[in-house]
Amino acid sequence: MSELVIEGLGRTFPGVKGGKPTVALQPTNLTVPANDFVTILGPSGCGKSTLLRIIAGLDQPTTGRVMLDGVEIKRPGPDRGMVFQSYTLFPWLTVEDNIAFGLREKGMPAAQRRDIVASYIDKVGLKGFEKHWPKQLSGGMQQRTAIARALANDPKILLLDEPFGALDNQTRGLMQELLLGIWERESKMVLFVTHDIEEAIFVGSRVVTMSARPGRIKSIVPVDLPHPREYTIKSSPEFSRLRAHLTEEIRSEAILADKAH
Ligand SMILES: Nc1ncnc2c1ncn2[C@@H]1O[C@H](COP(=O)(O)OP(=O)(O)O)[C@@H](O)[C@H]1O
Ligand SMILES: [Mg+2]
Repeated sequence: MSELVIEGLGRTFPGVKGGKPTVALQPTNLTVPANDFVTILGPSGCGKSTLLRIIAGLDQPTTGRVMLDGVEIKRPGPDRGMVFQSYTLFPWLTVEDNIAFGLREKGMPAAQRRDIVASYIDKVGLKGFEKHWPKQLSGGMQQRTAIARALANDPKILLLDEPFGALDNQTRGLMQELLLGIWERESKMVLFVTHDIEEAIFVGSRVVTMSARPGRIKSIVPVDLPHPREYTIKSSPEFSRLRAHLTEEIRSEAILADKAH
């Protein structure tokens, strides 16, 4: 059972050409147990991407560390799958070859690879699109492919940085349900960054709110909504209560962030 422990994690970016350094993340602690779906909610510039990139091993902290199953994270690895907002599929590979990419890197035999790719094609609803090129796909389909590519490696953690931020509202809703459905069926730790309050509540089991710059964790709000969740839950009284509570928290931070500009 995987556990993620963030200890005193801080990140300061040096100033450019003698300018002032930017404190992106103030020393932050957080423990995420196995199979938890955590959403990280905060205003623009509060350090959400910085936090996620350090967990992914794409950036190094200035202070503190991140431990996954007791081992310090220092670089990217197949135990963490990442999905970004902007589409990052390999344009020279078809949908199925994009999904198979990590498995091929691992040296998995073709027959086994085909089975895994087929199962994820099915799970993310891409049947019939196996041979398509990324540029032939809608934004939603590209993100389905990116999620399948991340999951096919069977990572311990799925890291998503505003993955549905560029999608229209209807597609975004469908993608939230898709991701939630996958998480409900497969035990997986998910860290999902968003600045959208409803999205954070709908998909998350806990919402971690972050304060305006310099970023730090402000509160952890449990989401006690039952599973399996359907979109109709968005009109329940408990959902409204959480939305009102988080709106208040994030509003005060957004005002601070705006003043800092
Ligand atoms: N590579 C970098 N160099 C300098 N400053 C950076 C870099 N990356 C992020 N920052 C700064 O760190 C702060 C947090 O950024 P980021 O983590 O991207 O916030 P968020 O994802 O919450 O919008 C911002 O002020 C941003 O300008
Ligand atoms: Mg960001």
